[in-house]
Amino acid sequence: MPITQLREIAAASRLENVRYAIRDLACVADEVIKLGHKVLPLNVGDPLNFDFQTPPHIIEAAYKAMRDGKNGYAPSPGVPEALEAIRGDAARKGITTLRDVFVTSGVSETVDLCLSALVNPGEDVLTPSPDYPLYSAVLCKLGIRLNAYDLNEDDAWQPELADIERKLTPRTRGIVLINPNNPTGSLCTRQMLEQVAELARRHNLIVFSDEIYDKLILPDANGDATPHIAFASVAPDVPCVTFGGMSKNYLVPGWRIGWGIVSGDAAAVKTYTEGVHRLLRARLCANHPEQYAIKPALEGPQDHLVEVQRKLRSRRDLTQRWCESTLRVSCVAPRGAFYAYPKIDIPESDEVFVKELIRQKHVMVVHGSGFGQKPGTQHFRIVFLPDEQTLARAYAGIAEFIHERYGNS
Ligand SMILES: Cc1ncc(COP(=O)(O)O)c(C=O)c1O
Repeated sequence: MPITQLREIAAASRLENVRYAIRDLACVADEVIKLGHKVLPLNVGDPLNFDFQTPPHIIEAAYKAMRDGKNGYAPSPGVPEALEAIRGDAARKGITTLRDVFVTSGVSETVDLCLSALVNPGEDVLTPSPDYPLYSAVLCKLGIRLNAYDLNEDDAWQPELADIERKLTPRTRGIVLINPNNPTGSLCTRQMLEQVAELARRHNLIVFSDEIYDKLILPDANGDATPHIAFASVAPDVPCVTFGGMSKNYLVPGWRIGWGIVSGDAAAVKTYTEGVHRLLRARLCANHPEQYAIKPALEGPQDHLVEVQRKLRSRRDLTQRWCESTLRVSCVAPRGAFYAYPKIDIPESDEVFVKELIRQKHVMVVHGSGFGQKPGTQHFRIVFLPDEQTLARAYAGIAEFIHERYGNS
């Protein structure tokens, strides 16, 4: 007799708050595509969807590794030559108190491992608002209460120290910095990093510094090209894991290669690092052949970065000019990565704005409420990776939509 499953298999209730707005919008886009329209995708941060190509020598290195039989499991922390190359890159970033390095399947896995290795039930980690949604998703998965601190739009999206102080509890274990930031495109100033370091020292916190976009830095409108500053270089004594990876800087998001660089006082980070390694062993290893591309990427020609930065600067400038000349829109000029996070002054939620924009003008951006924002404010995130012509078309569509929906004042 056939056995019938009668009761529904429920998903864990911890997952109720797990959202990934960037991909959730795809359902609305699918509706529009089914009606025969083409959607302009300004929503996903994948340069390979646009006119950016992976440097050939990196592809060659991964291909060679496969041909050379590097297709079994790798050592759990990563292959030695990749680890050595990451140590070299950390040194060039000014990280002097390096204690450990490990390779992961994308920074996504670094985030998961590093948060999982830290928090106990009842404890929390400070995350920025707005933030890259994976941080909240992983914390929800772990059953950890979210504790978000504000980034201050009036201060070029720097972390708001007073809010961090307010949100700190005796059970706060760490703080996440995303620098350069997704979704705002902002860069932390040296002074800000020093202040966060001071706070971490006083409250015995570990800092997770997500620097996945550290080589995608753009000059500001005055040509000021102040370089990116690694948190760990400013605070060599503070326990820190710097997150880095190949997805963005080296244009291989599909390879899933990231890493963590542990720095700080050796005794302070020892037990935590051992915890991370337990998790690294439990999941066996990161993608193996692709790890052989890390050394050629970090130590080989960097010519592609010049071209990437040239394109991004031109597209950022176009985006900024549009924001400045469009009614109801204003934006802090991005200095890194390929995101802009304009504020929009409208009488409805930004989620409605974004969904109707897809339906009516077939342009896809992501609503600010998908990343977090101060109550009463509305934003949307633009990925300015498409070429200038595509961006101009998309911006004309958004401006027309704003005009038609909200009028001229
Ligand atoms: C700030 C930030 N951290 C981490 C990631 C995940 O990167 P990966 O492709 O290495 O998993 C992203 C991807 O967009 C990101 O924007």
